[in-house]
This record gives sequence, C-alpha cells and structure tokens, in this order.
Amino acid sequence: MSLQTATSARVELARAKVNLALHITGRRSDGYHLLDSLVAFPQIGDRIAVEPADKQELRLEGPFARDLDGPTEHNLVLKAVSGFAARAGITLPPVRLTLTKRLPVASGIGGGSSDAATTLRLLEDFTGTYLSEDTMHALALSLGADVPVCLYPEAQRMSGIGDELAPGPVLPNCGIVLVNPKVGVSTPEVFAALSHRDNDALPLVPEKFESLSQLTAYLSSCRNDLQGPAESLCPEISAVLAALQEDTRIEFSRMSGSGATCFGLCDQKHAMDVERSLRAEHPNWWIASGPLA
Ligand code: C5P
Repeated sequence: MSLQTATSARVELARAKVNLALHITGRRSDGYHLLDSLVAFPQIGDRIAVEPADKQELRLEGPFARDLDGPTEHNLVLKAVSGFAARAGITLPPVRLTLTKRLPVASGIGGGSSDAATTLRLLEDFTGTYLSEDTMHALALSLGADVPVCLYPEAQRMSGIGDELAPGPVLPNCGIVLVNPKVGVSTPEVFAALSHRDNDALPLVPEKFESLSQLTAYLSSCRNDLQGPAESLCPEISAVLAALQEDTRIEFSRMSGSGATCFGLCDQKHAMDVERSLRAEHPNWWIASGPLA
C-alpha cells in the first residue's frame, strides 16, 4: 500500500490520566483486577512529536527522560509504532519521534499509557490511515490495560480491567494540582497488597457536576481502594496527602491510580499559587497544576 504521509511535524500533549475515584470490584482468574473508576485528563502531560526522518528514531527529552527504564526498544511509544504498522497493514516510512517526558514515570497518572495512546492517534493523522474503533481499542489494550482510556482524553468512567469505557460526567471548571514525592511505586505490588478485592462499584455518577463543591461532595462518597496499600508501601504518599489537606485552598485531595501521585482540586484561580507554595515547602517533590478538563 502506498502512503501519502505528512511532510511536517505533528505534536500533541499526552495528558496525564487522573483517577478521581477508583473502586476495585473483583479479580479475574488471570490475576487482573476489575475496577470501576472515574477518570479525568487535565491539561498537564508529556509532549510527543512525530516527523519525517532518514531513519526511525526515538528521542527522549525532558526532566524525566532518564527515568524511563530499560532499552529504548521496550518503550511503549515504539511498541505503539510497530503495533500500528502491523494492524494498519502498512510499512511506515522512517519517522523521528520525540518524547518530552514531563510526567514522573510509574506514578499512577498513566504517563506511559498516555504516551502510547497519543502516539497511535498521531500516527493516524501522520499517515492518513485510520483504524476502526474496534481495531484501535484492541491494539491499545494489547499495550496495557490503561491505554484504551487514554485514546479519548476526556472524562470517562472505566470498568472491566480498565478496558470497558463509557462517557464520564461533565466536569466543572476548576483547577487541579498534581503532587508526586518522586518515589516510584510498583503497580503489581500495590495490587498484591490489597486486602479486599470485592468492593462496591461507584455510586450513581451524575451526568454533570455544576460546581466544584458538587464534584467534591460526590467524590467524598467514593474511594481509591489502592490508596491504603500504596501508603503502606510508600509512606511519602501520606506526607503528600497531608500537605494537600493542610492547604485551605484545596477542596479535595486523593491519590491517583496505584500512586504515588496525588491530586488536589481547587478553584482555578488558586491552582498556580498552591503549586508555588507547595514547591517552596517541598522543593524535591514534582508539582504541576492546570485546568481539570
Ligand atoms: O496493563 P498494565 O501494564 O498497565 O498493568 C500493570 C500491572 O498492574 C499488571 O501486570 C497487573 O499486575 C496490574 N493490574 C491489575 N489489574 C488491572 C490493571 C493492572 O492487576 N486492571
């Protein structure tokens, strides 16, 4: 098949995936956990660029590039490239991908998953070859349980092992502050440390939250079931949550995913100031802020 690929670079923000609530509802016979989660994709993320090149190349840049483990060929971005070419039945011309890693690695906000999903979408645009929704979903799932949800970076409810997706509620205009103590947490270890796996599903999710206070009231009736096990494996998470709770501008805080990143929700006008004051108090933590949606 001959391809008319783009001649200029395509660039996209690979947004962080934040689990506003995460209930573990069971476990499959293959060991994967069933969950029910409300996720949001704030305007905070890695940057991915794809452009024509003489040979295929992945450039890693940004503050967390050196934390990406293992040989480059194991990077999810390159796995997304080879998976895309195989499923699309095309031979990709050589491309240079530049991943600017701004999100901490293994931190519960789906950085690697979002990088992979964003690469798949960029490749569709770059090659003009669009996969069917089913093929794209299967390809994303083959790269990781959290990759499908990252294909649609907007509020969603995810269930199954993370692969069953439904549109989420309309979120209010508000700010989010993400805080990570710069300690990596192993997702399988956190899941293994769970004491209860048959928890209840999320309470009925409204179609729309009119205000931050409505959203926080709802989230207060939910949990992140991985937070307790993660805090016991990584006590720094408790310090991060305490710092968020101490700031009176933060109206709600919780850990995302399997940690260690935690989030605080606040009025959009306070988000930058909260980020600044937390950074002054904790210069070694990673802190970022932006609009929730
Ligand atoms: O699929 P992914 O690579 O993101 O998952 C990492 C690990 O997290 C899995 O190997 C599994 O141990 C655990 N996991 C799980 N249930 C899920 C998602 C992940 O037990 N729904």
